Amino acid sequence: CDAAQSLYARYPFPIGVAINMDELAPDTPYQDIATRQFNGVTPENVFKASYIHPAPGSYDWEQADQLVAFCRAYNKRLHGHPLIWHQQLPRWMENFSGTEQEWEALFREHIQTLCRHFRGRVRSWDVVNEAFAADGTLRHTIWQQHLGSGYLEKAFRYAHEADPTALLFYNEYDLDANPVKRRAVLAWLRSMQQRGVPIHGLGLQTHMSIVHPENTQIAEMLREVQPTGLQLHLSEVDVALNPLGKPIEPTPELLRRQADKLAFLVRAYQELPRAQQYGITFWGISDRNTWIRRYFHRDDYPLLFDDDYQPKPAYCILARP
Ligand code: G3I
Repeated sequence: CDAAQSLYARYPFPIGVAINMDELAPDTPYQDIATRQFNGVTPENVFKASYIHPAPGSYDWEQADQLVAFCRAYNKRLHGHPLIWHQQLPRWMENFSGTEQEWEALFREHIQTLCRHFRGRVRSWDVVNEAFAADGTLRHTIWQQHLGSGYLEKAFRYAHEADPTALLFYNEYDLDANPVKRRAVLAWLRSMQQRGVPIHGLGLQTHMSIVHPENTQIAEMLREVQPTGLQLHLSEVDVALNPLGKPIEPTPELLRRQADKLAFLVRAYQELPRAQQYGITFWGISDRNTWIRRYFHRDDYPLLFDDDYQPKPAYCILARP
């Protein structure tokens, strides 16, 4: 199909993309597609603590600010990701040995320094990312270990204090395929709402494969999260062809199944109330830059554009008028 039109122009909510700052450069197909096809941006890595907070009390804004400038120049909504996570932490933070008060000070400083730096530029934040374990209990992270389970609520309160204008999200994976985890997150969200904690949205990562989760599980997830009344962001969408990691070719049959999976997800999302549709964000542009190849060292083709930046059937099915 023809990718001359904008994908985002076809939808009433933003269609975003995770941007990798190793790839973004003028006059590249990468930047061209980012600019033309998407109207939302999430930093894939450069807002993470290991990048932005490399030494105690010292912040490196260079790449993050380049992304901010890109978003301003091209009028893209910027979603900050993440304030608090247990991965991609700088070594000094992982090894920090302090009292509970010192941990709390570090935690608060990190959150509020980022919120203040990006105030007015970042519309929304993933305040906490992936805090629940598969069995629905709170994951044992350095934050939980040193601050106790109340760290989640504190993260949202600190973020709100530093930037009262930003929309604050909790972001999680597997809420489609794992109802135990989903119900634990929903119960926690309800208690936060009852306590008046400033939390405005739920990020559903939706890293999928052509077989997993099943469409019925996607529908069930959306049905169960809708009554929260929160903004709902499909925050990290991709569809792996090769969950088993065997050498494969992206055959027309696999690409068609990928397109069908995505079309189902997007149609189901479109049925939500407009006021809760924060948008759909894809976790990368071209198969050439997918995290899956880098992270799992396996062949895969999970995105909308192929290795040569050509639109795939998954793009075409979503771009259909
Ligand atoms: O910084 C080094 C670089 O110097 C080196 O050249 C390169 C060689 O592979 O590695 C670089 O770091 C990698 C980094 O991505 C940048 O490419 C890390 O090893 C790698 O672990 C890191 O992976 C990121 C992953 O989060 C870390 O858990 C992925 O790019 C990123 O897409 C992924 O994103 C997460 C979301 O933030 C949260 N939800 C899940 C999602 C997928 O795991």
